[in-house]
Amino acid sequence: MGRDLERILIGEEELQAKIKELAGKIDADYAGKDLLIVGVLKGAVMVMADLARALRIPVEMDWMAVSSYGAGTRSSGVVRVLKDLDTDIAGRHVLVVEDIIDSGLTLSWLVHNLKSRNPASVEICTALRKPDAIKVPIDVKYVGFDIPNEFVIGYGLDYAERYRNLPFIGTLAPHVYQKDAAKDGDRSE
Ligand code: PRP
Ligand code: MN
Ligand code: MG
Repeated sequence: MGRDLERILIGEEELQAKIKELAGKIDADYAGKDLLIVGVLKGAVMVMADLARALRIPVEMDWMAVSSYGAGTRSSGVVRVLKDLDTDIAGRHVLVVEDIIDSGLTLSWLVHNLKSRNPASVEICTALRKPDAIKVPIDVKYVGFDIPNEFVIGYGLDYAERYRNLPFIGTLAPHVYQKDAAKDGDRSE
């Protein structure tokens, strides 16, 4: 692992403090309302777990599994639903929880999909956002950090399914994905 990590972008304490700050805003905004938080598997597991425990209002939790990246470093734009919600969201307040908004393709597709189910509201909470990578504009109510357009790992974020368990956000050393791209015939452009 050591040499695969280039540098720590956001440390564990800074990350946890930000999640608590976002939870405070969500508590205030949804006080007295019935809220369903929806985690987008697999990347959102850490944010969901920390955010849910930092919230003081009662919430229900559900999960959707979608994937647009496969094993590469770029979004394919093709969103596959691997697991749908267990809950009927008609008439309910929904807060989608994500680890990162990169191109925005995943969430733009997902929000459109959820709105077609007639919820009372749909908002987004994301730990990270890359303003320089966005391809479709998205209205995001809660953002942890805006970060530069680099490949980041940790706190749920993977490269080829690895590094999700790191408690901080780090950047991946280019040699890791350059090596894989060379091996796979330059699949990641
Ligand atoms: C990652 C990340 C977001 C999405 C963001 O998920 O967790 O869900 O990509 O990218 P976008 O804004 O360009 O669409 P991924 O598809 O890698 O699946 P995972 O959560 O299981 O890692
Ligand atoms: Mn994801
Ligand atoms: Mg991924």
